[in-house]
Amino acid sequence: MDDLVRPDRYPRSSAYDPAWLIGLDMGPNPLWLLEDLAADLDLRPGMRVLDLGSGKGATSVFLAREFGVEVVAADWWIGAEEASAVFREAGVADRVTAVRAEAHQLPFEEEAFDAIVSIDAFEYFGTADGYLPYLVRFLRPGGQLGMATPGMTQEIRALGAVPPHIREVVGWEAIAWHTPEWWRFQWEITELVTVTAARLQEQGWRDWLLWSRAVGSDPVVTMLEKDGGELLGFTLISATKS
Ligand SMILES: C[S@@+](CC[C@H](N)C(=O)[O-])C[C@H]1O[C@@H](n2cnc3c(N)ncnc32)[C@H](O)[C@@H]1O
Repeated sequence: MDDLVRPDRYPRSSAYDPAWLIGLDMGPNPLWLLEDLAADLDLRPGMRVLDLGSGKGATSVFLAREFGVEVVAADWWIGAEEASAVFREAGVADRVTAVRAEAHQLPFEEEAFDAIVSIDAFEYFGTADGYLPYLVRFLRPGGQLGMATPGMTQEIRALGAVPPHIREVVGWEAIAWHTPEWWRFQWEITELVTVTAARLQEQGWRDWLLWSRAVGSDPVVTMLEKDGGELLGFTLISATKS
């Protein structure tokens, strides 16, 4: 548990109880990913932010508390009631609204948001060519889009197959894991956004391993140990709507 408090690297996240965060676990270190991603964004008090694929809501709590933004927490697997209870308990229910929504059928007005943030969720719904053009309609002109997703140092297509140590744990789904360069091209080719940052998270592989050990996710620990940081990490990509 102590490994999850790292004020040197993640000062804001370190103020959150790791037991609370693990209780909401749906994937590796969402607050670290968001804290790092936010360095590439300009989130200001009062902005209206969509947290897309918000899961049980830890990142939405963080957005409301750390940046003073109004959050709509949209998720498909987790019902609005379950997430709302997390927001009430965290004292942010006045600033965070939970909505059950599928990412391709979002129940919002066009240009409703100043920013859209998505942590460890885009790999499930956001790799199709038409997805970015669909999503940006919900951003105002000049609005920001920031996303963190499992990433690779090389494209699986270039490797010719899903490497065995990844395939054993994730199967074919790893073909949705891409390099920062892949995402940059995928988004910029639309001319609908300008990509402002596209990077593999520094120490992303190590962070993922620390989290997986803390939550006792043995198959993932084995995958990451076999990988040794050669291929796996997290891609962070940010853009503004043209
Ligand atoms: C690995 S969890 C991460 C949750 C949260 N962002 C976190 O980091 O703790 C992936 C999330 O993506 C959401 N998701 C997957 N497919 C989705 C879809 N088609 N539409 C909306 N959300 C989706 C799931 O409901 C799930 O909560």
